Amino acid sequence: MPSLKETYPLYLNNKAQQPNTDLEVTDKFTGKVAFRTALATPEIIDQAIAGAVQATEPMAKLASYERQAVLQHCVDRFKERFDELAYALCVEAGKPIKDSEGEVTRLIDTFRIAAEESVRMYGEVMPLDISERAKGYQAIWKRVPVGPCSFISPFNFPLNLAAHKVAPAIAVGCPFVMKPASMTPLGAIIMGEVLAETDLPEGAFSILPAHRDGADMFTEDERLKLLSFTGSPAVGWALKAKSGKKKVVLELGGNAAVVVDRDADLDDALERIIFGAFYQSGQSCIGVQRIIVHEDVYDRFRDMMVEKTKSLVAGDPKDRDTFIGPMISEKEASRLKGWIDDAIDGGASLLTGGGCKGNMLEATLLENVHKDAKALNEEAFGPLAILQKFSDFDDALAEVNRSTFGLQAGIFTRDLFKMFDAWDRLEVGGVVINDVPSYRVDNMPYGGVKDSGLGREGIKFAMEDMTEIRNLVVRRN
Ligand code: SIN
Repeated sequence: MPSLKETYPLYLNNKAQQPNTDLEVTDKFTGKVAFRTALATPEIIDQAIAGAVQATEPMAKLASYERQAVLQHCVDRFKERFDELAYALCVEAGKPIKDSEGEVTRLIDTFRIAAEESVRMYGEVMPLDISERAKGYQAIWKRVPVGPCSFISPFNFPLNLAAHKVAPAIAVGCPFVMKPASMTPLGAIIMGEVLAETDLPEGAFSILPAHRDGADMFTEDERLKLLSFTGSPAVGWALKAKSGKKKVVLELGGNAAVVVDRDADLDDALERIIFGAFYQSGQSCIGVQRIIVHEDVYDRFRDMMVEKTKSLVAGDPKDRDTFIGPMISEKEASRLKGWIDDAIDGGASLLTGGGCKGNMLEATLLENVHKDAKALNEEAFGPLAILQKFSDFDDALAEVNRSTFGLQAGIFTRDLFKMFDAWDRLEVGGVVINDVPSYRVDNMPYGGVKDSGLGREGIKFAMEDMTEIRNLVVRRN
């Protein structure tokens, strides 16, 4: 089994620095201190932003093949350090080891996609002679890097959601400062270690664990031209309000729904929905929270769900048999336990689960939940799923849309017309047919509408956000 060091540095202007060891990070299963990292002070954050400003021009001048080489180096090194990265996630996030390995695989994909895209930042030639006054004119536009970027990444995918910011920034030539989640900083720190092996211009990157109050500079400093935040809706929208003139990309949460129509293959839907609802203890922005099932198959599907949920192995995330590990903190587990208890007090039936010890919350299924219950309407971000019944497909779509969120939705149906209806009418960033809303491949456009966010990730789409279009108008007499 790989081991972790006792202390880790921060990365300031491409270099490892150990000004202190003030951030204590626990093993989320044992609760013991697993390692310490340096914590960035406001002075350090200021130096990092100044470094990023200095690096703006040299980064923009890098040739595509040079940016690609940096990204390819990361791919190679992440492959070599696969077990260490997975183990780090398992310890710092409490993510079951198989899910941790899955995340490292995705990390490698994300950097590989960015390496491929980095040499494809195209523009366009446009004739402008659409009327007499523009006769002889044409335009040529290209994309230029937006400049120094500010990234704030979350605890639930400490590697891959950091990668969705870092990799496109390198692909387009933007320097950046990043604040990883202080409960899970190690994934990003190891990424920093690997980037420090490259010859990116000085100031190209800084990776700075900091407490939430230290996040102000990442949001408010006017030298930073883009803020990309992944995390809770409440925090995300509050940061946007303080971000000044920056471009803002928000990847926030949701209470994702899946619809199981009467023609669905129930065995197939079951496997996928169990995974979507409970993998990494439901701590995903696209984890299945609402399961909306046609009345003809409801009872059968509910019984299948209950039986399968009861069979999930909970325990130590380092154990390869574990499916349900700890939640990130006792506070989060007891918050969700409170919502479950409130729903039951409001008339919901507990089908299975509901128990909570420390940060271990059982995989929980509810039905008959009141339509105003928090458990149904807010983002659970834990191992809770709620069964609901429908008789008419239009009502099922309306129920999916009866949410302030809109990230992704899943529909199990074999009916082509219903598929296109759902795609037209669901107010979400993505509709997934015959799989769960939790499905994501790292090159696809990913992001939300309504309270779920702004902008899109998926490398090519993030690269668009991290660039501006610069037009050239040419007049030929
Ligand atoms: C998220 O939780 O925001 C991302 C989910 C994923 O990348 O699979």
